[in-house]
Amino acid sequence: MKHTKVKDLLNSTNTIDEVSVKGWVRTFRNNQFIALNDGSVIHNIQCVVDFENTPEETLKRITTGAAVAIKGSLVESQGKGQKYEIKVSQVEILGDSDAEKFPMQPKKHSLEFLRENAHLRTRTNLFGAIMRVRSVLSFAIHQYFQEKGFVYVNTPIITGSDAEGAGEMFKVTALPFDNTPRTEEGKVDYKEDFFGKETNLTVSGQLEAETFAMSLGQVYTFGPTFRAENSNTSRHLAEFWMVEPEVAFNDLDANMDLAEDFIQYVIKYAMERCEDDLKFLDERLAAEEKQKPQNERSGMGLLEKLQFVLENNFKRVSYTEAIDILKNSKPNKNKKFNYIIEEWGADLQSEHERYLVEKHFKSPVILFDYPAKIKAFYMRLNDDNKTVRAMDILFPGIGEIVGGSQREERLDVLQQKIAELGIDEEELWWYLDTRRFGTAVHSGFGLGFERLVLFVTGMSNIRDVIPFPRTPQNAEF
Ligand code: 4AD
Ligand code: MG
Repeated sequence: MKHTKVKDLLNSTNTIDEVSVKGWVRTFRNNQFIALNDGSVIHNIQCVVDFENTPEETLKRITTGAAVAIKGSLVESQGKGQKYEIKVSQVEILGDSDAEKFPMQPKKHSLEFLRENAHLRTRTNLFGAIMRVRSVLSFAIHQYFQEKGFVYVNTPIITGSDAEGAGEMFKVTALPFDNTPRTEEGKVDYKEDFFGKETNLTVSGQLEAETFAMSLGQVYTFGPTFRAENSNTSRHLAEFWMVEPEVAFNDLDANMDLAEDFIQYVIKYAMERCEDDLKFLDERLAAEEKQKPQNERSGMGLLEKLQFVLENNFKRVSYTEAIDILKNSKPNKNKKFNYIIEEWGADLQSEHERYLVEKHFKSPVILFDYPAKIKAFYMRLNDDNKTVRAMDILFPGIGEIVGGSQREERLDVLQQKIAELGIDEEELWWYLDTRRFGTAVHSGFGLGFERLVLFVTGMSNIRDVIPFPRTPQNAEF
């Protein structure tokens, strides 16, 4: 007999004489009640064992973490808390789990401990919920762009260019570390390397996506990106997933409209499809918040926060306005910020972004028209010759969730910028071709997928929303 998913059994509209189910024991109470979970849904199904007619040897092996196959009938539950339960006729132990040694005990573990056991943490309700929500959000992203006729493009993981010009890249090489081939000047001779040139893991698929936008019109890439920045924060990963749409003929306003519509769509999609998981996460966050001092509480519950994002337009504010607000803000005047905003041109730190979003506007904010000096080379220069058509979307509790821009479509302006920054034009010959042959206004952005998952799940550390986080000094699993 084929086994049925716990989710389907719990959603059944009638009792069933013969069912088969497989999963992992969460708890076994009174030698009688198995709480069984198979990952299909946050809820366990209660399986009531006829202990008098089950061998003692088998009963002993029904322990937390054990994999079991159960046969029985789906009946209306006598107990409260569930509509149906399984009256067990046969238990088969598929895989034992030593109760003394199994790390996932039926009690509350710290998130730190669970991170160290990332291979087992998805056996908990919390991580089951987070990973199901992540999966649904991932699908929602494709759904959104596919419905709108975007073409999905798989940009390369190994690249020869630095899209962000920030130099925070992991090298890819097949050269030996000892006896490394050297040029006459004593530099590493990459001509001898696998690709015959210096290569690295991509920090963004944008530049390649732009070439596709300039032929297929509307495209998006969604894949892993890598940054060797030594940021040990709750918002940074060395390996993270990024969604990057790129659209021909879109200016910055259209880019903002797209980003806002897209984010609202995927959040709504998850709210409709992950009701049980989000309810659980909402309750978890509420319990967490209660532990905090009054002035650190967020004031809004998770579901409330998600609903708020769906119902309210993001505030669009220029960098210049934002600087004025920050300069005159209390924490700036009282020197409470770690970085005091002195003048126009300052780069915004996450403390400033969060002040704008959480204290001042109390809403998601899109900041635009940043100083050219603090942004990447490919952004469209404004007529003031000082600012570029950049936009960052800032979210409560998260800070920057999206970074994007209208791209510099004028060949001469772009070449000048590249020269100023000392970037080798030769390396970008293919990128510049998009400006040489049929250039046009175009725009795009990158959304950090884990930051989105953070927001939707109400978690506070980015290491808890990706299966196996890669951060400085940590690449376990
Ligand atoms: O702002 P970023 O660096 O923009 C780009 O890479 C552009 N090429 C995107 C584009 O226009 N197509 O990164 C985009 C987003 C950030 O807003 C943030 O959400 C996320 O990627 N991000 C990170 N997420 C986790 N860990 C890190 N180390 C991240 N760095 C950026
Ligand atoms: Mg950015």
